[in-house]
Amino acid sequence: MQESGTKGLILGIETSCDETAAAVVRADECPLSNIVASQIALHTNYGGVVPELASREHLRNIVPVVREAIRAAGITYSDLDAIAVTEGPGLAGALLVGITFAKSLAFGLDIPLIAVNHLEGHIHAVMMEQQGSGPSDQGSAPSFVTPDPLLFVIPEGNLLLASPQAVQGPTLALVVSGGHTHLYLASHDGDTWHYRNVGRTVDDAAGEAYDKVAKLLGLGYPGGPWMDTLAAHGNPKAVPFHFGQITHRAYKPGTAPLNKKAPAERTGPVFDFSFSGIKTAVLRYVETHAMKAAIETRRAALAAAPETTAAEAVALCDQQTLDLIASFQHAVVGNLMRQTFAAAEAFGARRILVSGGVAANRELRRRFIAEADRRGLTVAFPSVALSTDNAAMIAAAAWPKFLASNFAADTLVATPQLKLG
Ligand code: KG4
Ligand code: ZN
Repeated sequence: MQESGTKGLILGIETSCDETAAAVVRADECPLSNIVASQIALHTNYGGVVPELASREHLRNIVPVVREAIRAAGITYSDLDAIAVTEGPGLAGALLVGITFAKSLAFGLDIPLIAVNHLEGHIHAVMMEQQGSGPSDQGSAPSFVTPDPLLFVIPEGNLLLASPQAVQGPTLALVVSGGHTHLYLASHDGDTWHYRNVGRTVDDAAGEAYDKVAKLLGLGYPGGPWMDTLAAHGNPKAVPFHFGQITHRAYKPGTAPLNKKAPAERTGPVFDFSFSGIKTAVLRYVETHAMKAAIETRRAALAAAPETTAAEAVALCDQQTLDLIASFQHAVVGNLMRQTFAAAEAFGARRILVSGGVAANRELRRRFIAEADRRGLTVAFPSVALSTDNAAMIAAAAWPKFLASNFAADTLVATPQLKLG
């Protein structure tokens, strides 16, 4: 849907963490370009994102990345209707680079600036691709795989989900990344979306647990993709992590908030997550099974050959390590599933959207799809490129705000702890 008198073109800018990203999206459905300059190589040496280095790198990259997004979209700056930028949550200095640039560009072009919550962006990454796959998918044979082999959509009956409005009742969105593990009930009132937080991690985010365990095992950074690849070679039942180890503090789905400091508005049932327990359980396993020497050998081998891929690293892992990785992943995915499906049942949500970096995980996709199918629910994921941080999702989330003339003031500041819902 496009407003008359506009081309519906929004430039999105995302700099909340370690990716400098810019994209041009038409309305909320068609990315004309999606440019991401990753800083992974820079932060690998430190095994995590170094905020000062991230800000400096964003400064270096922002101009060429935006320029490339405009060029690749085949448009000029004067074609743009608005500029959308991530307001938070994220690293203060990193956010500031994107916000300052976006403000200046919007001012110079005399077009509106739209502030977007990064978490809302992740949710819209899924919606955008569903919009984009559009009505042409209706009536096609039910399939778990749309024409984009990386975009999995479970059909509801014979209908592939074509638009966010196609399913009645609330939508449940799981945003699971390196910085966040949140469950939201999402509903819309016309073009305006509303979110209610019904679950969050009380300690580590799921991706953070992946990254820390990968580091502990002497693997590369970020750890998620390494673990994803290596887990396929191990036995997920070899190390029986039990529920108490996985859920350190947030153990009971659907109970009152466990976090004593939870704000008063968290009154209904909540479906919180906890991942620090399993991280500690892996550490204990490593210590009690004398794995440290093998880990140091692997760490040294990877440091000496930094180009080694995760697939090649299989040869650097003994079976015990591969089994530990597979068991860790099995437990983490199981925990994400347990809380998510319990929340879907409690709130009567028939549609689940899963987004954020960890949504790229193959076992997670496979098991969520199978469980949703078993329960007769719909589950959707973004393509892998739109699972991790990108700016197309920021531009897509800005579209309803553009239609509602919900523009940012020129006093917009970075909000590192910005909440959604
Ligand atoms: O959404 P994202 O790019 O950045 C944040 O907002 O955090 O997510 C990055 C996180 C990292 O923790 C990374 O290890 C994890 O997503 N990740 C994965 C996979 N790909 C990325 N975790 C598990 N399996 C994957 N295939
Ligand atoms: Zn993210």
